[in-house]
Amino acid sequence: MNNFEFIPYNYMKLSDLFLLFLVSVSLASCISREDEQFRIGVSQCSQDEWRDKMNAEMQREAMLSHEISLEIRSADDDSRKQKEDIQYFIENKVDLLIVSPNEAGEVTPAVDKAFDAGIPVIVVDRNVTGDKYTAFISADNVQIGFIQGQYVANNLKPGEKVIEIKGLTGSTPAMERHDGFIAGLGDSGVEIVASIDAQWSGDLAFGLTDSLLRVYPDVSMIVAQNDPMAKGAFSAAEALFPDNDIKFIGVDALTGKGLGVEAIINGHLDASILYPTGGDVVIQTALKILQRRSYARTTTLETALIEESNAELMSRLSNEVQHQVSIIESLRREVDDYWEKHSMQTTLLYVFIVFMVLLSISIALLYHALKKVNALNSRLNVQNETLDDQRKQLLSLNHELEEATHAKLMFFTNVSHDFRTPLTLIADPVEQLKASANLTDKERKLVNIADKNVNVLLRLVNQILDFRKYENGKATLNLSGLDLAECMERWMDAFSLLAFKKHIHVSFIKDESYDYSNTLDGEKTERIFFNLMANAFKFTPENGTIDVHLSRLSIDGSDWHSFTITNSGSGISPEYIHHIFERFYQIDSSHSGGSGIGLALVKTFVDMQGGTIEVESTPKKGTVFTVSLPVTPVDGTVSEPINLISGERVVSELGDISAEEKKDEFQNSILVIDDNPDVRTLVGSLFCDEYTVIEASNGTSGIQAAMYNIPDLIICDVMMPGIDGLECCRRLKSEVNTSHIPVLMLTACSLDEQRVSGLNCGADAYMAKPFNSRVLIAQVKSLIENRKRIKSVFGDGISLAEENVSKTDKDFVAEFKKAIAQRLDDSELSVESLGTLFGMSRVQLYRKIKNLTNYTPVEIIRITRLKSAQQLLLSSDLTVAEITYQVGFTSPSYFTKCYKDYFGENPNDTRSRKK
Ligand code: FRU
Repeated sequence: MNNFEFIPYNYMKLSDLFLLFLVSVSLASCISREDEQFRIGVSQCSQDEWRDKMNAEMQREAMLSHEISLEIRSADDDSRKQKEDIQYFIENKVDLLIVSPNEAGEVTPAVDKAFDAGIPVIVVDRNVTGDKYTAFISADNVQIGFIQGQYVANNLKPGEKVIEIKGLTGSTPAMERHDGFIAGLGDSGVEIVASIDAQWSGDLAFGLTDSLLRVYPDVSMIVAQNDPMAKGAFSAAEALFPDNDIKFIGVDALTGKGLGVEAIINGHLDASILYPTGGDVVIQTALKILQRRSYARTTTLETALIEESNAELMSRLSNEVQHQVSIIESLRREVDDYWEKHSMQTTLLYVFIVFMVLLSISIALLYHALKKVNALNSRLNVQNETLDDQRKQLLSLNHELEEATHAKLMFFTNVSHDFRTPLTLIADPVEQLKASANLTDKERKLVNIADKNVNVLLRLVNQILDFRKYENGKATLNLSGLDLAECMERWMDAFSLLAFKKHIHVSFIKDESYDYSNTLDGEKTERIFFNLMANAFKFTPENGTIDVHLSRLSIDGSDWHSFTITNSGSGISPEYIHHIFERFYQIDSSHSGGSGIGLALVKTFVDMQGGTIEVESTPKKGTVFTVSLPVTPVDGTVSEPINLISGERVVSELGDISAEEKKDEFQNSILVIDDNPDVRTLVGSLFCDEYTVIEASNGTSGIQAAMYNIPDLIICDVMMPGIDGLECCRRLKSEVNTSHIPVLMLTACSLDEQRVSGLNCGADAYMAKPFNSRVLIAQVKSLIENRKRIKSVFGDGISLAEENVSKTDKDFVAEFKKAIAQRLDDSELSVESLGTLFGMSRVQLYRKIKNLTNYTPVEIIRITRLKSAQQLLLSSDLTVAEITYQVGFTSPSYFTKCYKDYFGENPNDTRSRKK
């Protein structure tokens, strides 16, 4: 037996390892990934090409850094909306705010609020009014205005007229550029005929220019604070005066289709001042602030004058820069891809390392656990082996015990058999002596002692034989109606003298209100009662009590008669009480004296009747036996015997056999032919339990009894007056009725010659007197069994080829078969008519045939009919109905049933195989 047991160990469970694995994997993936850490809110005042460029630069820079996520909101030139956007970023707790205020006065409070909330603020392009910001990034708008002023001064003569188109009045670039412009004009003498606010809008500038040119058609130059407004003015002038030579200048100088630099190249604008968007610088500064690195609080972006001479170059440079930027972007994407792959591989590597580490730990732990398991298993194996040895020893002890018990029983049985005949032979003369009148007192006393002890011995012997019968499955129940109360009262009488002698008070009480009639085996119930009473007397001390109480109980709807026998005394200790009903069990040496079989037999007889027996004992107080027997109403009929092996009542299977035959069918019979009555009685006593014993006192009456009864075996004495045993045997073997019966010769002559002549006359076995009864029993059984074996091998009812079967018997069976075959179509064919044909009675024929073939004559007739029908089905064209009548059946349906029972298929199935 393999006792594998998983040892839980203290180090780490598998579930813990799995958890550790998951944690490590997620850690590894965290290590290999750079998470975006900073959220930046961007509040733009408006949306146009310049802002688009700036936003794109910021996005690109943020993307390159991998540490920033941007959320850009545009106020669409509406200061109120911009305040809401800033509030939104404050509430969302951005890490940094980038703001380009639409109007300084309007938006500054919102910016201050963000700053006060601890959010770093970078003000770009347009400024706030105070200094509540973290950094300011912009080109110098005063300088831009100044360059414009200088350009005007350099290109116009004093007195020439200029229109100034400004951005939104509240925005700082508009104010600063104007101041710079005025300063740049200096004392050039140029006259500003109009200075208007077009709110940074090209459309507004178009409308306003159209109106102003109608008033000042002689204007030499229009100076706008951004390129969209300058282009709007140019368009208005073009529309109004197609051939005008007005000069237009703006600010921003964006490269790209339809933008400022292209307008210069196209000749629409004369110049523009570069106003850098600086998105990249803004994000770089933001990152420095967020990473708490040093940064410039104010960053001034470079500016320059762009005019016809450098516009082309500027455009190309810008394109080139744009191209480089896109290359950088694509490189960056590739790097990102590689980085991603690398990250993935790093993650996998980490996962692998973690896995390998955990695997190593697991293997180490498993190895350790297995070592422990192995050690434990080896210990268990050693224990198992020891246990196995002990079990084997126990089994062998049990076996030996069982064998010893069996041998003891066998011995007792054999001794009992040996004892019973002489005991019976002693009991009868003792009985006769007791009845004799002329005995002296002393002689009578002695005879009484002899009588009493012979009866004790007989009872013991009978008990053992009864028990043996039960163990061999041969005991039967003989049920009959009786009144249990009445019986017990009667049985109690038998103990009154003993009670008197032993000074034991015995009482019997029954619950009067009940009826105690029941269907029981009276003899066995008496034995139950007597044994229990005898047991009680044995263990009750002088002046003790034995109380018997009978009652009737109803348990779960069924009725029981229950009686208790209670005796005072030392009681039985619990260690013994469980074994009390075992065979040969004796409580201790002080309680020995019985055969050790009495209580076992009691239990057996109770069980046989479907009852229960219980014992309860209180040391130093006494013992109570309780017997309960089921109540079966008495219906006046005597039950059939019950076979104790199958537990079912024995029912005859022979429908066509008389009652006499039925009885014989169940009990083999033996004929004893001996002139000595003692020998006949002795032999009879050996076999009467298992066989019906028929006795004959001489050869002539023996042959007659054999012819009439057809016994299963004959035991025949050789030396007899009249026809001696040898002649008797010869005649029996030559008679067709009796030729099959095994004959065992018994003789006082042990000379080999006589043995040979005994066997020569056809005897099957030979035994010398004085014989050993066990050997005789064994020999008889062997002869009967051999006969059965022959039948089981050759008794197919059709052929008898066994050598041991005499020619007479073979011929007889052949004749019998022939007689049936000739009368097959005779549906009236009966065992009687066949018996008459062979000069035998129906019973004689039945026994002879059954003994030889193991089939009854009726079965042989039926099988012969069926086999013949099978032949006809396979070889003729007759219908099933025709065949039915031809083979002697009177009903096709009954024929079909018998056919199916015997062949396992219907006649039509057989017919279908006909060739
Ligand atoms: C873009 C813009 C530019 C100008 C700047 C001033 O929105 O109008 O054209 O240079 O803003 O803040």
